[in-house]
Amino acid sequence: MTGGRILDRSRLERLMGAEMAAFERANPRSKALFERARGSLLDGVPMNWMIKWAGPYPLFVEEARGAHFTDVDGHEYVDFCLGDTGAMAGHGPDATIRAVEQQLRRGITHMLPTEDAIAAADELQRRFGVRWWQFTLTATDANRFAIRLARHITGRPKVLVHNFSYHGSVDEAFASLRPDGSVGPRQGNIGKPVALAETTRVVEFNDLASLERELGHGDVAVALMEPALTNVGIVLPEPGYHEGVRELTRRYGTLLIIDETHTICAGPGGYTGAHGLAPDILTIGKTIGGGIPAGAYGFTEEVGERVRASIEWDDCDVGGIGGTLAGNALSLAAIRTTLTEVLTEEAFARMIPLAERFEWGVAGVLRGHDVPWHVTRLGARCEYHFMPDLPRNGSDQAAHDDSQLARFLHLSAMNRGVLMTPFHNMALMSPATTEADVDLHTQVFGEAVEALFG
Ligand SMILES: Cc1ncc(COP(=O)(O)O)c(C=O)c1O
Repeated sequence: MTGGRILDRSRLERLMGAEMAAFERANPRSKALFERARGSLLDGVPMNWMIKWAGPYPLFVEEARGAHFTDVDGHEYVDFCLGDTGAMAGHGPDATIRAVEQQLRRGITHMLPTEDAIAAADELQRRFGVRWWQFTLTATDANRFAIRLARHITGRPKVLVHNFSYHGSVDEAFASLRPDGSVGPRQGNIGKPVALAETTRVVEFNDLASLERELGHGDVAVALMEPALTNVGIVLPEPGYHEGVRELTRRYGTLLIIDETHTICAGPGGYTGAHGLAPDILTIGKTIGGGIPAGAYGFTEEVGERVRASIEWDDCDVGGIGGTLAGNALSLAAIRTTLTEVLTEEAFARMIPLAERFEWGVAGVLRGHDVPWHVTRLGARCEYHFMPDLPRNGSDQAAHDDSQLARFLHLSAMNRGVLMTPFHNMALMSPATTEADVDLHTQVFGEAVEALFG
């Protein structure tokens, strides 16, 4: 670390031991449920990521409402994780619940359209300026179908992604750059079907020269990009980056997918709406259904025409795009209502200042203790990271990861009633989040930094 306080590792270990003991003392019912869960759930969790929470076992949730939840031991938490964006609309927003309850009684899924489908697509069209829409159950599916379509209409085999990006469990996207610049599987890639270099080209974020070199091979059907990286921590685009991406992808005949699944936090129309991007295809999921499984992908007039002209509709049910439950009535009622009544422009106008307040709170603590970390913000989302300057790309950010330190900060926050997004130090504001919620984080973060450096 350059300048500022140096972290004392033995102190960190001591503090971590104390937080682990405090967690176990405070959460006996979660512990008992976890032990029971190990009888039938692999490693005691319904989905393997859940073993990665900072404590010795995950908290079991009793109830979640708005920006808060209670665990089975009766503690209340301010939730800045919000289901890693799935609950960015707040837990159980009233309008979505009403719409979903009504739809539950009127049919959940019938493989026939409902009027809500039109209203949901109209709203996505209005927000993102993208013409034609289709629905899925997840953002992963939206990305997978968009990639298939892009390959189909361009006749090219490859996908290009940013190093250290994440786009869901999309095989082609689990690629990363090796130190020699070649493409290999991302660390931890499980069961890859083929060598990643066969399917994928990878470039660093903010690196237009490499992008041009890779597109120049002429075999890239589609570039799949988040407009700002969010999954390795927030990495913002440099001025001119997106203009360059758009110019180069057009010049080399590569389609551009902008994945707004997380960057919807930038505003009602996501980063695309806030910064006037012009993707060929836009994908999104998670929050648009207010927590009900839902995803969507949309494409421009021109891409829509190419898709129509190239698909044999008689065979579309076996073409690899779609799914029995995709576009179901329940998801569409949830999307329509969440977008038009919950994640509204007024909601963003409240959420973004809360994220600013969060950012100032963290920056004040860091300044007060001369700690060389940075805090950054993207609309209603904030993040702090263990390096003094903003990262330029995913490698830069990943090189400064410190899982031991992050684990301590997360556990110490949990023990004081604050839940951060796991795997990195990310906080998301919902329409139900309050200034008091944000101030509780500032206080708790201040206590952790004081314990580490005071
Ligand atoms: C940018 C981005 N795209 C897509 C996805 C996939 O979402 P899901 O796992 O809900 O399919 C994620 C998940 O974290 C994501 O961060």
